[in-house]
Amino acid sequence: MVKEIRGRKLNLLIESSEIKQKVHELGKQITNDYQDKNLLIIGILKGSFIFLADLIRSIDINTEIDFIRVSSYKDEMTPGNIELVTDLGVSINDRDILLVEDLLDNGGTLNFIREKILSNQPASFKTCVLLNKKKTRKFDIRVDYMGFEIDDKFVVGYGTDLAEEGRNLPDIYVIE
Ligand code: IMP
Ligand code: MG
Repeated sequence: MVKEIRGRKLNLLIESSEIKQKVHELGKQITNDYQDKNLLIIGILKGSFIFLADLIRSIDINTEIDFIRVSSYKDEMTPGNIELVTDLGVSINDRDILLVEDLLDNGGTLNFIREKILSNQPASFKTCVLLNKKKTRKFDIRVDYMGFEIDDKFVVGYGTDLAEEGRNLPDIYVIE
């Protein structure tokens, strides 16, 4: 079993069974809220891919899935420093959008994508975030569906990475 990444020790924060239960609850809430809607779920790559894959299997309505990929460079607190790598493949005009992200840290990533989506006039827009770091943010981001509130420490696993490693870990760990 992986116990460290790049020489940094991993301390268990959230076990996979706990994640599974929470993801199932979120899926049920989303199912209830979007009855009779044609939901378009947008995952932010790469971090959200495992969360999204589990979440959509707990959503019991017809949905469409698409992905958007961004990268932040130098200082991700500045909106201009987030770059679109792969754009959406569908039109979002008049659609009910649920944006899914692994982790909310400073909010720059979600802010950038939210602005982009809202400028294309969706019918509705909500956010779903698995991990929400407790901190003062530069960007005011409303989280409509939240998995866990966590301390402001670097985490890895269940899709989130440390320098691209650790995404495959079933549990979520804090890096020592
Ligand atoms: P934000 O733009 O500051 O909210 O940061 C969001 C992105 O930074 C997330 O989508 C993650 O990919 C990455 N990130 C921020 N904090 C962590 C962390 O603790 N572990 C892994 N990735 C993180
Ligand atoms: Mg990410």
